[in-house]
Amino acid sequence: MNTHGRRTFLRHIVGGATATAVVPSLFPDPPRDINASPARLPNLAPGDGVDEAYWDLVVGQFSLRPGLIMMNAANLCPAPYSVSQAVVRFTDSVNSDASFQNRAKFGDLRTKARHALAKYVGAHPDEIAITRNTSEGNNTIVNGLPLGPGDEVVIWDQNHPTNNVSWDVRADRYGFRVIRVSTPPNPASHEELFQAFSHAITRNTRAMAFSHVSNISGVALPAKRLCELARQRGIFTLVDGAQTFGALTLDLHDMGCDAFTGSSHKWFVGPKEAGILYVRRERVPDIWPSDVGVGWESALKNGAQKFENLGQRDDAAVSAMGSTVAFHNTIGPDRVEMRIRQLADAIKQSLTDRVPGISFHTPSDPQLSAGVVVFRPPNQDARQLFNTLYSDHDIAGASMGGDFAGVRLSPHIYSTMAEVDRVVAVVASLA
Ligand SMILES: Cc1ncc(COP(=O)(O)O)c(C=O)c1O
Repeated sequence: MNTHGRRTFLRHIVGGATATAVVPSLFPDPPRDINASPARLPNLAPGDGVDEAYWDLVVGQFSLRPGLIMMNAANLCPAPYSVSQAVVRFTDSVNSDASFQNRAKFGDLRTKARHALAKYVGAHPDEIAITRNTSEGNNTIVNGLPLGPGDEVVIWDQNHPTNNVSWDVRADRYGFRVIRVSTPPNPASHEELFQAFSHAITRNTRAMAFSHVSNISGVALPAKRLCELARQRGIFTLVDGAQTFGALTLDLHDMGCDAFTGSSHKWFVGPKEAGILYVRRERVPDIWPSDVGVGWESALKNGAQKFENLGQRDDAAVSAMGSTVAFHNTIGPDRVEMRIRQLADAIKQSLTDRVPGISFHTPSDPQLSAGVVVFRPPNQDARQLFNTLYSDHDIAGASMGGDFAGVRLSPHIYSTMAEVDRVVAVVASLA
């Protein structure tokens, strides 16, 4: 019986006399393969190629519900067994003994996680704060930069609310101006994107804040070029990396931004409610902290740690950030990026081939996009299609509204080419 048939069957029984016996649990046990661990993935040398059989092994590292096609990485990702088990192990340890003595080990694990994260994103450990998510990192910069009347901040109109509405709220209070940059729909080149920002800069511009990749259109900005331009003019740059941290190989020193934010629970496939805030070493003293807590004096001596003075943390989640870097390194961040791009490109290409009249907010050029694909279905309301995909076909995506109305699909390394084919066939049958 296919998934749709099974659901219909369940619905019928639920309506009948045996309803209580078959109502599915709200929290069913996930499928478990307790032997799954990155150690079961073959050791690869740099440059080794991988095939579909390899990616099937990677899929086996995740506890996804059988039948579900999960293409919502831009919003939230599952963590692989090795990470979720680390979280459980660390949490159990705290629950078994919450003494200072037993918890001391989490200090070391946090340091190890910070070092691993720094290497993973091309930064120095003193430039990394382990935050709770991208929202917190963005707001730390928005609230921490000293700005006032006469100052201007240039932002992208495709930013997430934590990087545009948050600037508006702050500007209302402190009297600076927020300038919104619009970029051409479905841009054809980096140049068009670059010029839009370049024209918005004046001699009053103090900061420029933009998403590395937009969550609403999937457009990727030329971050390095924009940061270079800003640096030449003494303008602070905040790059929101929610859609690239964990998806693309990053070298933040090479990118040249002043601050970069990301969430662990998105493409990084890490523990929930954790994230990173990178602040370039020279810029740390320029940013006021949002939170001041116990251990402030020592946090002040340790670079970006001054931005994570948040009181009691979920030590398990913070520590498991290190386990997540280990997971990425087993596969290789360049292979992760390659696979995400391969899947996203296949979605764009196959939908174009098979769905007449379909259009995209996301450019097809890999230079101008990454793992986020947003399309406008030809004959259907996007929200309705998003709902039907999940309710009738077990396909989880997202729906976008406003100027970027469409369905968003964001596949990850736990997605397969067969799933891409299935999604495209379903969209084609419904269009
Ligand atoms: C570009 C961007 N920034 C920030 C966020 C906020 O992420 P979080 O809820 O993990 O803080 C998101 C979430 O989708 C996003 O796409």
